[in-house]
Formats: sequence, C-alpha cells, structure tokens
Amino acid sequence: MNNKLAIHGGDPVRTRPWPGWPQWDESEQAGLMAVLERGEWGGYDAAVAEFESAFAARHAARFCVTAVNGSTTLETALRALGIGRGDEVIVPPYTFIATAAAVRMVDAIPVFADVDLHSWNLSVPAVEAAISSRTKAVVPVHFGGLPVDFDRLLPLAQRHNLIVIEDAAHAHGSSWRGQPVGALGAVGSFSFQTSKNLTAGEGGALLTNDDDLAERLWSIVNCGRLPSGDGYEHPNLGTNLRLSGWHAAVLSAGLTRLDDQLRRRMSNARRLRNFLAEIDGLTPQRWDPRADAHAHHLFLIRYEAEQFGDLPRRDFIAALRAENIPASPVYPYPLYRQPPLVEPFSRVTPCPNSELLCEQTVSLSQNLLLAEPDEMDDIAGAILKVRENINALR
Ligand SMILES: Cc1ncc(COP(=O)(O)O)c(C=O)c1O
Repeated sequence: MNNKLAIHGGDPVRTRPWPGWPQWDESEQAGLMAVLERGEWGGYDAAVAEFESAFAARHAARFCVTAVNGSTTLETALRALGIGRGDEVIVPPYTFIATAAAVRMVDAIPVFADVDLHSWNLSVPAVEAAISSRTKAVVPVHFGGLPVDFDRLLPLAQRHNLIVIEDAAHAHGSSWRGQPVGALGAVGSFSFQTSKNLTAGEGGALLTNDDDLAERLWSIVNCGRLPSGDGYEHPNLGTNLRLSGWHAAVLSAGLTRLDDQLRRRMSNARRLRNFLAEIDGLTPQRWDPRADAHAHHLFLIRYEAEQFGDLPRRDFIAALRAENIPASPVYPYPLYRQPPLVEPFSRVTPCPNSELLCEQTVSLSQNLLLAEPDEMDDIAGAILKVRENINALR
C-alpha cells in the first residue's frame, strides 16, 4: 500500500465524505409546514410549548424555557438568579467565550478556575480555591458532553452556598449516575447552534425544577410579562428572546433522533478509545464511568508532541486533515486572555491545565462519530500513517 502522506501528494486514507451535519428528513419538513399553516410563526406557536415539554421530559426536568441562543440563556439564568454588580461567578477558562462573557454581560465578575487535565471540566479543588466572600455561583461546562463531577461539585456548592448553573451547551442527553444533566444544579443552559448535537441553526433552552425560577426565566425571555398576566403588563424587566415556531419544529424533529445518535456516538467513541489506548502521546478525555451517557459533542484528545518526535500539533493536525480526518485544535488560548475578560474585568486563579490544553487539544467533531463503526478505522489508520511518517514531516 502507498504509505505516502496525503499532505505530500499521497492518496488520503479517507476517501468517502463523513456524515453531514445538520441532518434532517421529512419530519422537519412536516413540522415546518405545520408552523407555516398555523399562521402564528413566532414564539407563541404551539410548536414551542410542544418542544419545551419534550425537551424537559427527556432531561427529567420539570420546566423548560427556550430562547434565541445558548449565550442569552446563560445571561438570562444569571439575571433571574439576581446575580449582578460586584458578584463573582466561577467559570472555566477552557470553554467558548459565552460561558464567561455572560457573567460580564450582567455586570458580575468572572473568576477563572482551572480545569482538570484529564476531563477538560472544571476542577472541583480549583473551584474551592477560587471561592471568596463575593462568590455567588459556579458555571460548570460539561465539556465535550462529559458531565462535571457532580458528586464533588454539588456538596461543595452547598457548603459554600453557591448556585450551580450548568452550561450544558455540549451535553444534550448526557447523564450522571442515570440522571440527565441540565436540572441537577439550579438551572441548566443548552445551545442549539448549528454544530450542536441538537440544532435548529440557532436556539437555546433553560431547564430547572424550581417553579419560581422557571417563571422568572420565562418573564425575562418574554418582555417582563408573567405567564398568567396580560400582554401589556410588564411587572419585570425583560426583553424579547423568544425562540420561533420554526426553530421549535426543527428541534422537535431532531429530538426524536437524539437517543439513537447518542448511542452511536458513544459506541464509536469506545472503539476509538480502544485504538488510542495503544498509542503513546494521544490521550483521549477520561470518561468517568459515572457519566453513563456522554454526548460526545467533541471527541477530545491530548496530543503530546514529545511522543511524536516534537512534531508541532499544527503539523500533526494539518497532516490528519490532508488524510480527510477533519481534526481541530479548538481554543487557541484561555479566555482570560480575550480582551473583554482580562483582569480587572475578571479574577484569574492559576490555570496551568487550561494553558496546557490550549496547546495540546486535538478534537474531532460529533458528526464523525455518526459514521459506521468500521469507519472509525479510517481515523485510526490516518493517525498510524502520520505516526509512521513523522520523519518526513519534520
Ligand atoms: C460551552 C458553550 N456555552 C455556550 C455556548 C453559546 O451558545 P450559542 O452559540 O447558542 O449562543 C456555546 C456555543 O456555541 C458553547 O460551546
């Protein structure tokens, strides 16, 4: 077999396209047509309430409030919980900017605590070390779909009177000891942006089991109205963040496929993990067995260049991409180096793991894990091929 790297003009390992994303069929079309024909179209279309109850039920939560995206849902959660000027909120620095920007958007102070090197999730000891008298809440991100260690985080939060706001943007359908994420803390925030495991292009949702909080969330998303009130009564300060009927119809159709896709991603992830166990220098995210469902929005790997003859990560990724394995480095630096989040707009505790993960992460997106099991061998084959050709790359 020709072993010449594709980046040097050889034949790529992978020749077929990967499963596309987003996916849709006649059920999205039928849902959209029903919205069209009902003639409401907006956030008060029946499709929205229908999706909210299905999404809440799927995550064993009592209430779901949808909104336009997963950035405004985080902001809405913070506002509804009364978090504002002078309050501190602990967040990870290795995540999408929305997790921390939402804290600043309500005038509070993001406090960066380090993540765990093996899970990519907030480190509970680092959270504990970051608590001050002003700390009001903590926002764990279930990174890549792996739930945070709730067994340690929830008791810590309880001891220090901290509100737990789950950023579950990557974690549709994930669960911890059999309990779906999203309403294990006070409130959970989801995103339905195009890349996400459940998507309508844009969209977001909040889950909670708390009646009063659910009403406050709904009110902020609905111009400060009350569910029981008149349309021109606005007892609260709010804005219009409502999700449309179109989005909800697409989400309801996608939700019917979520569990099949979840099973497939988990099973393919196991196959890839077994392969990587044999490769020094490529360490997959540690999958805590208490996380009995792991959404695998991202398949995360730590790349240790020392084990690859000091080949820089960017060259490793470029070689894989030429083999048609669309790997990505994710975040270039921790969030506390983004201009709106530098000190004094934030407080930063030592985050060596986040720094290292910004240098070492190699990620594969969830749609690759929707391929047939034997297609995972293309990923393995490309990795082996690159490894065998390190000298040609240096
Ligand atoms: C961890 C995390 N939180 C929040 C968001 C924000 O979601 P949205 O893009 O829907 O605003 C995203 C993603 O885009 C995310 O990855």
